[in-house]
Amino acid sequence: MAKLDSYWLPFTPNRGFKKEPRILVRAEGLHFWNDHGDRLLDGCSGLFCCALGHGRPEIAEAVARQARELDFSPPFQYAHPGVLELAERVANLTPADLDRVFFTGSGSEAVETAMKIALLYHRVRGEGQRQRFVSRERAYHGVNLGGVSLSGMVRNREHFGVGLPATLHMRHTALPANRLVPGEGEHGAELADDLQRFVDLYGADTIAACVVEPIAGSTGILVPPRGYLARLREICDRHGILLVFDEVITGFGRTGQTFAAQSFGVVPDLMTMAKALTNGAVPMGAVAVRRGIHDQIVSAADEASIEFFHGYTYSGHPLACAAGLATQRIFRDEDVVARAAALAPYFLEQVFALAELPVVRDLRGYGLLAGIDLEPAGAAGTRGLEVLRRLFAAGLVVRMTGDTLILAPALVAEREHVDRICAIVRGVLASL
Ligand SMILES: Cc1ncc(COP(=O)(O)O)c(C=O)c1O
Repeated sequence: MAKLDSYWLPFTPNRGFKKEPRILVRAEGLHFWNDHGDRLLDGCSGLFCCALGHGRPEIAEAVARQARELDFSPPFQYAHPGVLELAERVANLTPADLDRVFFTGSGSEAVETAMKIALLYHRVRGEGQRQRFVSRERAYHGVNLGGVSLSGMVRNREHFGVGLPATLHMRHTALPANRLVPGEGEHGAELADDLQRFVDLYGADTIAACVVEPIAGSTGILVPPRGYLARLREICDRHGILLVFDEVITGFGRTGQTFAAQSFGVVPDLMTMAKALTNGAVPMGAVAVRRGIHDQIVSAADEASIEFFHGYTYSGHPLACAAGLATQRIFRDEDVVARAAALAPYFLEQVFALAELPVVRDLRGYGLLAGIDLEPAGAAGTRGLEVLRRLFAAGLVVRMTGDTLILAPALVAEREHVDRICAIVRGVLASL
């Protein structure tokens, strides 16, 4: 194998990693194999993306076929059949009239795109002064500078300057009163009134959009309090503020419905997605936009003009579209979202049984997503890294954020996978 020196790993302590590398060489179903030939269970669907498990031959074959047929199609001024079909497929899955779809190469790019659509929408309506964005403490909206400005995870923003000046952060929704409660907590819907306070302080006519993850994922699975998202929707409606749901993690079945918007019964104006859109096999993101917003922007320009000066070389890449179409076909044919919904109560029951371990400080979960806060040991993240290393040695791949362990098994997992994940976690946490 090549040496490690040239490679700079993202979101990883590089020097520690290079002393004790974790190299994955193969994946199939719910398992990875490392370079020593050990089999490891995937407790986090890769990084929330491999909803259907790894190595699905239907996806691999569709991508290979597409590479031979049409490997690239310039996305500006041209289109190809796959991108049309995938846009239609996504439009049919989204709630209400969120049926205009703009493709990007990642979740981060989807967030930037949504922010620009919000700004442009207000501008063409003659309200170009609406330039503020409202986000939330502990939010994660990717790593580009717009998304970092929205970000409420301190370590993700503190090294990168002031960011977009016009961003405001509501309080996060992890309340002690909801400690160890699976699903939506009963306390905290009134935290949505932080948005109203910004309206009162800065004027509704300065605020373009409120951007939230329906369930804050990367910060440790913060499930919204009951009624919280509906209250955000009401305040946005009252004041002409667009509501953006960042469904990069929650989209495509993770909550037991196709989108969290459907699980919580709240329709946003724009919705970002990525990850399970293509089962993680080829990078892709997208923004679904309410038809009226799209139409307003498009009709504001004359017919020969570009309406939205934005797009990526890899927007709607043919290989990503092929992966997306094959993925969505499996979702439909195997009733994957219903399977996830059926497994979720069992998953949450097993995970919440870990609450009895002394090292578990709090636990949250919804659908096939759970976050387990551990009692810290030393500097923030030290215990988390130690647990990640020990879990890897014990045969489990997870995502850690600080001292919080995140579990998000594939939507096609069986009860025995859940049992095994929880047994490995229990063994390692009990040994601390
Ligand atoms: C809610 C949310 N938005 C945006 C992103 C960024 O996506 P990507 O890593 O594909 O750029 C993520 C990634 O985890 C996410 O969870």
